[in-house]
Amino acid sequence: MTTTNDPSLNFSTDWKYAPAPESSDHVQLKSRYDLFIDGEFTAPAQGAYFDTCNPATETNLAEVGDGSEDDVNRAVQSARKAYDRVWSRLSGRERGKYLFRIARMIQERARELAVIESMDGGKPIRESRTVDIPLAAAHFFYYAGWADKLQYAFPGREVRPLGVAGQIIPWNFPLLMAAWKIAPALATGNTVVLKPAETTPLTALKLAEIVQEADLPPGVVNIVTGAGATGAALVANPSCSKIAFTGSTEIGKRIQKSLAGTGRTYTLELGGKAANIIFEDAALDQAVEGVVNGIFFNQGHVCCAGSRLLVQESVASIVIRKLKHRLETLVVGDPLDKNTDIGAINSRAQLDKIESYIDRGRKDGLNLFQSECPVPQKGYWCRPTLFIDVAQSHPLVQEEIFGPVLTIQTFRTVEEAVEKANNTPYGLSGGVWTDKGSKIFKVTSRLRAGVVWANTYNKFDPSSPFGGYKESGVGREGGLHGLAPYVSLT
Ligand code: NAI
Ligand code: MG
Repeated sequence: MTTTNDPSLNFSTDWKYAPAPESSDHVQLKSRYDLFIDGEFTAPAQGAYFDTCNPATETNLAEVGDGSEDDVNRAVQSARKAYDRVWSRLSGRERGKYLFRIARMIQERARELAVIESMDGGKPIRESRTVDIPLAAAHFFYYAGWADKLQYAFPGREVRPLGVAGQIIPWNFPLLMAAWKIAPALATGNTVVLKPAETTPLTALKLAEIVQEADLPPGVVNIVTGAGATGAALVANPSCSKIAFTGSTEIGKRIQKSLAGTGRTYTLELGGKAANIIFEDAALDQAVEGVVNGIFFNQGHVCCAGSRLLVQESVASIVIRKLKHRLETLVVGDPLDKNTDIGAINSRAQLDKIESYIDRGRKDGLNLFQSECPVPQKGYWCRPTLFIDVAQSHPLVQEEIFGPVLTIQTFRTVEEAVEKANNTPYGLSGGVWTDKGSKIFKVTSRLRAGVVWANTYNKFDPSSPFGGYKESGVGREGGLHGLAPYVSLT
């Protein structure tokens, strides 16, 4: 039982939920997965494989093909052939039928895909089954609808596909990122080679099975697993007319440099350091819940995570107290348990990175608060963490941590809030919490960020565009805007 002077905060935080694990018995994983090239699963040319593990148990789930440059080139060739001979010649209506079919098959296999997503990446099942998988299906449905209506998307223009799209995705939303990339590319008549992240390749390989069952012409979708070198080979292949990348700003910049002057187009969706701004007139309980959702959702492995809280000075102490209490009730642990709020950190390397930031804050004498919840012995875990009153110039405020770590700063005026919110190298997203509609418009119009939520956070829909300012990236994905990078217009 916690006791404070505020009666609304006097509640017990030591109650427990009974375990509610989602069964994984129905999940069928092979012990080894090959590369998906030209409609077939084929062994990597050099015969190399790597393991993908469950970060909650540190046990290996399967071994997966390590695609070499030769494999990548073969996949691009097959995509080019499929583009020239079949896909670019099909009517939009026919392309749409295939996309609708894939969307329905994702829905039919939603439970299996959600469990695999949680096992391979560590995210809570509550999220993978309510966010990742339904949204992945929704993106295929949405872009299926555009396939035969491109003349309405770009009225008065002649719309042509680009050719082969090379697509590289990260580990935080594996199947959803695959859908974000593949669906608009196919809808507009391009073919693709997709490179999933090395720690979370399994749902993309399940998607390859779906693509095969959906009878897509061979070579329209190729999936080549591997690590950074495999991605680099894809970027280097001159037959990829377009590169779509989501991941770190560091690699994004490298890709941008290597494509400069080649005439090949690209979209980059990179890091973020979003501010959630709470004004004194906000509904504070809702705001606190929104801030918790904004940063602790998916272990903070979210590029648009609200990793900085800016709270108006007059309500700062009450908001911080409410936040601390809420943190104590968050459940960290088994991703397959339906009560889990914060699952496993995706990899040892990512946990090391997060811990080094927490150590840095400790060494610099910052005001640190971590919940005391138990965490399992094995696996990669990080308790939800707050750093209170951090200077704007501190690395914890400036750099992307990509973990369940929230910095808190205060402000007095709207100007100060906007100035602090904009003062990082990033500009992907932001949040504003206030009772006043006029303040929402005033503040959101001045935030230099691609997506801004008002009185909510982390809400996604396939019809709404997504992308960043500054070092958060180039181009937009999602919605009508997401079609543009896959077409040439005359
Ligand atoms: P990363 O940028 O290295 O990996 C993302 C994808 O790019 C993976 O598929 C990877 O294999 C591939 N890749 C790596 N090197 C490449 C290269 N030279 N050429 C082409 N593709 C390459 O990100 P990483 O190392 O997994 O995470 C590091 C940090 O990046 C995280 O701590 C986080 O701050 C940020 N990040 C941001 C993401 C976002 O959604 N914006 C997603 C993942 C990470
Ligand atoms: Mg894994």
